[in-house]
Amino acid sequence: MPRTKLIAANWKMYKTPDHTRAFFRDFLPQVSGHTRDEIVVCPPYLDLTAALDAAKGSNVAIGAQNVHWKDEGAFTGEISAPMLLTLNVTHAIVGHSERRQYFGETDDTVNLRLKAALEAGLTPICCVGEVLEEREAGLTDDVLRRQCVRAFHAISAKKAARLVVAYEPVWAIGTGKTATPELAAEAHAVIRKEATEIFGEEFASNLRILYGGSVKPENASALMAQEEIDGALVGGASLDPKSFAAIVKY
Ligand code: PGA
Repeated sequence: MPRTKLIAANWKMYKTPDHTRAFFRDFLPQVSGHTRDEIVVCPPYLDLTAALDAAKGSNVAIGAQNVHWKDEGAFTGEISAPMLLTLNVTHAIVGHSERRQYFGETDDTVNLRLKAALEAGLTPICCVGEVLEEREAGLTDDVLRRQCVRAFHAISAKKAARLVVAYEPVWAIGTGKTATPELAAEAHAVIRKEATEIFGEEFASNLRILYGGSVKPENASALMAQEEIDGALVGGASLDPKSFAAIVKY
C-alpha cells in the first residue's frame, strides 16, 4: 500500500483570526475535491477556533504547533492535548527546531510531548533534523538516530500508530536553501531504518516521513517524487493560499 502523503502548513507566529478566515476563504476552493493527499494547517493557538470554524466539513484538518505533556497544571503559556481535543484539533507539531533552538526544547521533552499526544489520540508531527555544523562535520545520521531514539523512547509500536515524522534540516528552514530531493531521501532512509529498529518493519514501512525546509511551489513536485518522501511541512510558503494550494497540488 503506498503511503498517503500529508502536506502540512506550519504558520509559526503569523496571522490573526481575521487573517485566518481570509486565508481559508481563498484556500478552500482551490483544494476542494483534492483527495490524493491529506492537508493539515497548523496556525498559532489564537487562530485555532477561527481555522476550525472555517475548515469545518472540508478536506483540511487543523493542528497545533505544540502540545504539553500534562493534561493541566501550573504551566504558564502551555496548552494540553485534552484542551486541543475539545476544539477538535487532530494534529500537533512536536519538537520543531525553533522550539529546540529558542525555547529550550530537548529530546526528553519532545519524548514527553510525543507520548502525551499519542496517548490522547492526536496525530503528532515529530520534527527532527541536523544543524549546518552537524551536517558539515558528517554527523547528520548520528544526530537523526539520536533524536529518533530519544523521541521514541518507551513508546510501543501500537501506541505510535499515528506517528508522523518530519525531517527538517535546520539549515534549510526559512533560508531558501532546500535539501536536494536525493539528500532528503537519504536522511529519510536513515529515519526509517531507525524506526524499523525501534518499532519493527511493518510499522516503519507505513510510517510517513515528511520533508520540511524551504518547500515552495517550484520544488514541491521534485521532492514529492521521491519514494521516501511522504509529504511536506511547509513554513513560509504556506502563508499564502495560492502558494500553499500549489504545493498541495504539486
Ligand atoms: P520553511 O519552514 O518552509 O519556511 O523553511 C519549514 C518549517 O519550519 O517547518
